[in-house]
Amino acid sequence: MKKQNYLDFVHGILSSEEDFLLFKEFYQKRLPKSIKLIQSRICGKEIEAFLKDRWWKFYLPDFLASSWNSFDDVKCVENIDVKSLWSHSFHNAWLFYIQEISAGLSAQVLGVEKWDVVLDLCAAPGWKTVQLADRLLNLWGWHVFANELSFARRKALVFNLNRCWLYNTSILWYDWVSVGDLAHEMFDKVLVDAPCSWEGMQYKYDKNVVYWDQVGAEKLAKLQKELLLSWLKALKVWGELVYSTCTLNPYENEWVISYVLEQLWDRVELINVDIKWKSFWLEKYLDKWKAQLVARFWPHIQKTWWFFIAKFRKLKSLSNTAKVDERFLKKSEYDYSDSLRSRVVDYLMEERGVICDEKYQFFASKDFVYVKDNTEINNKWLFIEKQWIPIIKLWFRWDFIPQQWIVTVFWNAMSKNIVELDYESLQKISDWSDIPWNYWLEGKFVCVKWNSIWLFLAKQVKNLLKMKL
Ligand SMILES: C[S@@+](CC[C@H](N)C(=O)[O-])C[C@H]1O[C@@H](n2cnc3c(N)ncnc32)[C@H](O)[C@@H]1O
Repeated sequence: MKKQNYLDFVHGILSSEEDFLLFKEFYQKRLPKSIKLIQSRICGKEIEAFLKDRWWKFYLPDFLASSWNSFDDVKCVENIDVKSLWSHSFHNAWLFYIQEISAGLSAQVLGVEKWDVVLDLCAAPGWKTVQLADRLLNLWGWHVFANELSFARRKALVFNLNRCWLYNTSILWYDWVSVGDLAHEMFDKVLVDAPCSWEGMQYKYDKNVVYWDQVGAEKLAKLQKELLLSWLKALKVWGELVYSTCTLNPYENEWVISYVLEQLWDRVELINVDIKWKSFWLEKYLDKWKAQLVARFWPHIQKTWWFFIAKFRKLKSLSNTAKVDERFLKKSEYDYSDSLRSRVVDYLMEERGVICDEKYQFFASKDFVYVKDNTEINNKWLFIEKQWIPIIKLWFRWDFIPQQWIVTVFWNAMSKNIVELDYESLQKISDWSDIPWNYWLEGKFVCVKWNSIWLFLAKQVKNLLKMKL
């Protein structure tokens, strides 16, 4: 099949000529900037007050402000350019990150509650996992398992979860097809943010892309169907699953949903994505009543990134052919010795004032010392790739250089070498430059705080606090 001009393709989907003209006007326009605050680390009001002082204005777009549910985890920001957002010290300290409004909705629509065990199937680089885990931490709740097949992307996932301090997460490394059987009916909530043809992103950034590849989209749709069937197995009966993509083509959205409903008509039901202003529905690809339950987001209607969300509830058990994964951690590659433990424990006491309890396990590779929280999760079947956090760099195998993650793990136990910034100094570091600091901790690594917010590790060199280590 020949590749089709993208605009012709969209023309075919949209409901009227007027709609199409509007789409053409908007589809490559700049969208409002929006951010997600890490609310388990900071009190939203406190940071908003600080940022407002710098003339930032927060607001929810009309289509969310008028909704009866409060979907306010991600907010638009006015009076700011992307460069200033990126270089802001709160961004460098991972107190917020830049997130598109529509992309931030799927995790919110999933509606995670305190005792939910949650699975994020296609997790990397992890922005939705961060939202899910942040919400659970705020509720003093349970745990998120984040699955990702690609090795490189999994590294980014672990990195992002660590830097946002989300320790209530475990990383899985599975192809989605096998997980449904391995983790049969283990999860209360599942998020499937499926790999898709990604055209929302493509057309936003590359004005030269003109074709739309229907064959590619149909291949992806085949994969997405497989994926949904497998992951519905992993869901508990009465559990809920959200399926989302950042494409607007119906092959990867309504078609996939329609297939799953046909196959499992007596075991799952589609439930309403409860957003008031969802745009029109596409009856050609999914039965009219069902099509009204899913949500599509268009750049010319809601003025946000192209996105699609559908939500399922599982009504009856699905069969499985239970398998067990018997991979084990190769302990021999690491130093788990008591002497390493006592050196680390002494160092933490001396330099950070941390009294370390038994729940932390330490081990070293040739470059880093890692820590792992020993809290066990009730799981018989899945191999959990350890979420090791590197806290100390080994210099010539012996000297200890602390890493930013040391603050991530031990912030609430630290009592030594702490620097409290006042409001004025905080304003100064907002562009990530070093700040003059007359203090007596020459050559020391210090933990920087403002109010009750732990920011990051810095080093005092002469009369400066150096932010970049
Ligand atoms: C749309 S992205 C996920 C974005 C992520 N949810 C976020 O918010 O940052 C889809 C992910 O699925 C992963 N993936 C692709 N094939 C997979 C498979 N067979 N099993 C598991 N994950 C897969 C891709 O590597 C990619 O990282």
